[in-house]
Amino acid sequence: MSPISILISALILTHLLTGESQDFTKRIPKNSLGLRKEKLSHLHFYFHDIVSGRHPTAVRVASAAMTNTSSTLFGAVVMMDDPLTVGPEPDSKQVGRAQGIYASASLNELGFLMVLNYAFTEGKYNGSTLSILGRNPPLSAVREMPVVGGSGLFRFARGYAQARTHFLYPLTFCLHVGKNGTG
Ligand SMILES: *[C@@H]1O[C@H](CO)[C@@H](O)[C@H](O)[C@H]1NC(C)=O
Ligand SMILES: *[C@@H]1O[C@H](CO)[C@@H](O)[C@H](O)[C@H]1NC(C)=O
Repeated sequence: MSPISILISALILTHLLTGESQDFTKRIPKNSLGLRKEKLSHLHFYFHDIVSGRHPTAVRVASAAMTNTSSTLFGAVVMMDDPLTVGPEPDSKQVGRAQGIYASASLNELGFLMVLNYAFTEGKYNGSTLSILGRNPPLSAVREMPVVGGSGLFRFARGYAQARTHFLYPLTFCLHVGKNGTG
């Protein structure tokens, strides 16, 4: 379970709006997209990545011949659909899901390539998403990952996410990063 703090802001891409007009492009007023002033928001939630047991939320979908003998599980590709909650408890109110892929992309230390969407389901953010593309070394205290965009209320979003591990189930962890390896 990792608490994730996200600092996001809606960006107005002025270079898109002021470029030369061509046949296939036209200028449009900012407010036609509902864009007003850039706003900063801070989101905080927990995500629950369950890789073992009867109801896993993350499953390995691919690996390389060397993956199981690699101390970093290099080449493992995991698909996740993790609940996002307001509190650290698994039964705490759910506000969305973290859906996407993490893949072991580092030969020498544990480091995941994260490609995922936060799909929100609560309140005014219901139906809106934020997209994350970044590097996640899970053993580091704080991992920073860029918010590369979003949809719905988060159109034009930019920002960063900071992940901190709140609690790690030792068995779950072993299964994922240490099995047949050195971790
Ligand atoms: C590697 O380990 C995983 C998890 O224990 C297992 O599901 C998979 O079959 C193993 N792959 C190979 C090639 O041994
Ligand atoms: C979120 O939106 C979906 C689809 O419009 C709707 O079915 C659902 O009830 C909404 N959830 C909340 C908590 O508003």
